Amino acid sequence: MVSKRAFVMGHPIAHSRSPMLHGYWLTRYGLEGSYERLDIPPQELDAFFADFRNAGWIGGNVTVPHKTSVIPHLDRIDDDATKMGAVNTIWWQDGALLGGNTDAIGFLGNIDELVPGWDKTARRAVILGAGGATRAAAYGLQSRGLDVALCNRTPSKAQKLADHFGAGVSAHAMEELAGLLENCDLLVNATSLGMIGQPAHDIDLAPLKKDAIVYDVVYVPLETDLLKKAREKGHRTVDGLGMLLHQGVEGFSRWFRTRPEVTAELRQLLIDDIRAKTPGA
Ligand code: ATR
Repeated sequence: MVSKRAFVMGHPIAHSRSPMLHGYWLTRYGLEGSYERLDIPPQELDAFFADFRNAGWIGGNVTVPHKTSVIPHLDRIDDDATKMGAVNTIWWQDGALLGGNTDAIGFLGNIDELVPGWDKTARRAVILGAGGATRAAAYGLQSRGLDVALCNRTPSKAQKLADHFGAGVSAHAMEELAGLLENCDLLVNATSLGMIGQPAHDIDLAPLKKDAIVYDVVYVPLETDLLKKAREKGHRTVDGLGMLLHQGVEGFSRWFRTRPEVTAELRQLLIDDIRAKTPGA
C-alpha cells in the first residue's frame, strides 16, 4: 500500500484536474505517494471522516460542495479559511487535522507570475460575482491593499460579502458597472459565466480604464470571450489556469514536504488535456 495518500474530494469530481497536477509533481520529484480522486456525496461525508485516520490519509483538497461542510470534521481551521468561510486544503499538524484555504494564494500567485509587479500601481479592483471564487479574489486583493468593488447579478449577495470583508470592500448592482470600470485597475470575472456550456458575459468594456488588467478565474476555455474582448482592446489578460496551479503548490508542500514549481511544461500539460477533452476550448 502507498504510504503517503492524499486526495481531492468533491461531488461531482470527474472533471477535476488536481490529480493530473499533483501526479505530475510526485513523478517529477521522485516522491513516493499518491493523490486520489474521491467522489464523496454529502451523505457520505461523516463516514469518510470517521475512517480518515484508518485509511491513512495525509490530507487532501476539498472542492464543491464540501468546502464549508468539512469544517466541523476538522480540529482547527487557519486564518485564511476562517476569513474565506471555506476550506480547500486539509493536512495533519502535530496530531491535529487542520483546514486551510489556499485559493487566495493561488489567485495572487497567478497574476504575480503573469503580470509581475502589477500591484505596485493597481489601487482599485472590480470583481464580478459573489460566490466562492469571489471570496478568494476579494480576500487576496484586500490583503494587497486594493479597494474592491463587488458587482453581482444579485446585489444582496455582494452586500453580504462586503459586510463580511469590511473596510475597502463595497457592493454594487450591475447597473453601476460602467461607472466603476472607468477607475478600475483590475477587472476580475469570478462568476461561472464564460465557462464552456455557460453563457458568455454581456459586458461592455468600452468604459474600462485604458491600462486595466482583465483576469478571468475560468480556465475552460483558457481564453474566455471576456479575455478575448479585453485582449483585442489592448488590455493585459490573466486566465484562470494558473490559479489552480498556484493553489496546489501550498497543499503539495504541506503533504509531501517538497515545494513544487509551477513550470511552463506543467502549464502545457494541463492546456493539452483541456484542449483534448473539451471541443472548442
Ligand atoms: P463559485 O463558488 O464557483 O464562485 P457560486 O457560488 O455558484 O460559484 O457563484 C456563482 C456566481 O456566478 C454568482 O455570483 C452568480 O450570481 P448570483 O449571485 O446572482 O447567482 C454568478 N452567476 C451565475 N450565473 C449567472 C448569470 N447567468 N448571470 C449573472 N451572474 C451569474
